[in-house]
Amino acid sequence: MSTATASDFTLPVIGGQHHFLLRRLHSLTGLLFGGYIVVHLLVNATISQGTSPDVYQEQVNKIHSLPFLLAIEWVFIFLPIIYHTIYGIWIVFTGQPNVGKYNYTKNWFYFWQRVSAMVIVAFILFHVLGMKGLFGCVFTFDAAHATTTTVRHITAHWSVAYLIYPLGILASSYHLANGFWTAAITWGLTISAAAQRRWGFVCMGIFATTFGCGMLALFSIIRHGSMIVR
Ligand code: HEM
Repeated sequence: MSTATASDFTLPVIGGQHHFLLRRLHSLTGLLFGGYIVVHLLVNATISQGTSPDVYQEQVNKIHSLPFLLAIEWVFIFLPIIYHTIYGIWIVFTGQPNVGKYNYTKNWFYFWQRVSAMVIVAFILFHVLGMKGLFGCVFTFDAAHATTTTVRHITAHWSVAYLIYPLGILASSYHLANGFWTAAITWGLTISAAAQRRWGFVCMGIFATTFGCGMLALFSIIRHGSMIVR
């Protein structure tokens, strides 16, 4: 499936002659951030292993003891997602979904890739700004008290646990898995229909793993929430 749309040829193109490079960079930053999300959700799932010993806290401690953590965060997490989001928003608003005309599965995948992208924008803003303390103490994450502050964040309001996070996890898992599938075409790795079908099964596994880990973490937090001192 080509990711090009009619708008690619009719609307002004960001970057002009560098358009190809910017698109590749968009794909690469999506892959980089996707790799981070897989690790992030796996680490979060350790919260299901209980609090004595506090396995999740141990993982957080390991991450926070990494050398050059701030530089690692900026190079592999913040800069990639900032670029991917800005260029992605431009793609979303200049693309022309054609699910009304062609009711094929791939057209729907393309459509949901864009819808999930916009859900993720809102989710990341809430998740990151909330954890950093912009919405008050109840949403703030403290690495020294990783489990209790995560529980406090998620259980601050029913809508956080039962609406915002399930939706954010679903959108992120879908966008990541479908993105990995299309990225293989972007980089010329899956050329034949058979290769795309085979890679499709792997991507379904990536979706099931990331969504499963995210929901496992969420349910564990909700279940243990009342038992952990707030
Ligand atoms: C969990 C966070 C995210 C991850 C892991 C991620 C990853 C990816 C990947 C791997 C691709 C495939 C690139 C390709 O086909 O070569 C992609 C595509 C895309 N992403 Fe993201 N992304 C994320 C968040 C966002 C956000 C916040 C936006 C903002 C609008 C966005 C917009 C897009 C768009 C529009 C595409 C389709 C590009 C195309 O079809 O040419 N993504 N993403």
